[in-house]
Amino acid sequence: MKIGIIGAGNMGAALGKIWAKAGHQVIFSYSRDEKKLHQLAASAGETAKAGTPQEAVTQSDVILFAVWVPSLEDVIHAVGSLDGKIVITCVSGLQPDFTGQTIGLPTDLKISVAETIQQLAPNAKVVEAFNTTFAEIIASDSRQFGDHRPSIFYCGDDTEAKRITADLVKECGYEAIDAGNLIVARTLETLATAWVQFAVASKLFPNLGLKALRR
Ligand SMILES: NC(=O)c1ccc[n+]([C@@H]2O[C@H](COP(=O)([O-])OP(=O)(O)OC[C@H]3O[C@@H](n4cnc5c(N)ncnc54)[C@H](OP(=O)(O)O)[C@@H]3O)[C@@H](O)[C@H]2O)c1
Repeated sequence: MKIGIIGAGNMGAALGKIWAKAGHQVIFSYSRDEKKLHQLAASAGETAKAGTPQEAVTQSDVILFAVWVPSLEDVIHAVGSLDGKIVITCVSGLQPDFTGQTIGLPTDLKISVAETIQQLAPNAKVVEAFNTTFAEIIASDSRQFGDHRPSIFYCGDDTEAKRITADLVKECGYEAIDAGNLIVARTLETLATAWVQFAVASKLFPNLGLKALRR
């Protein structure tokens, strides 16, 4: 697949590297440091390159939003049209400095971050995923916890976009669990915040994986 990464920080870099190493064509974009983007692309291998946010979108089918909430409006302007694109968002309601950790939805949004992105880009196929894991786990050698693979819950309204997201989740070494329509992002984003808070309070951060058990 052709994947555009918007936000080349902890999440964007870690996920983009896995996908590039799996053979996808990946464009890293949206950093305040262009040199960092080029270094990241070089470290990700032959199928990765650096680009502008607009290039990342026009040249890709799947776009990963890996930025903080305060950057969202700027991102939407920077990327141009998202019509027809699959937009995977891992953006949570947490503030960048973790102060004022948000319980539930970000206070200035009445709906989830994912639904806000869908409103800002009505013709995009928005899917929420990767919210309940940590970048340190994605960047580590393996996602395995002993015999267990952590679960990634994803939600969205477009069936094909969700299928492609599930494949990308599995390629990263996680179990992919369909959590329903995009409205579920309201609870998924809240779960993500609770998960971070639990990890910090328990002093187990970041060596934790969330797992849905079955029987
Ligand atoms: N980290 C995790 O474990 C984790 C897990 C699940 C979900 N999330 C969510 O994923 C999103 C990204 O998290 P992250 O840890 O990857 O963040 P991060 O490392 O800070 O990356 C953010 C990216 O946005 C870029 N950016 C461009 N303009 C910016 C601006 N004006 N202000 C701030 N950043 C700007 C940063 O650029 P520079 O390269 O110039 O810094 C960086 O590449 C957040 O919404 C977070 O809640 C994170």
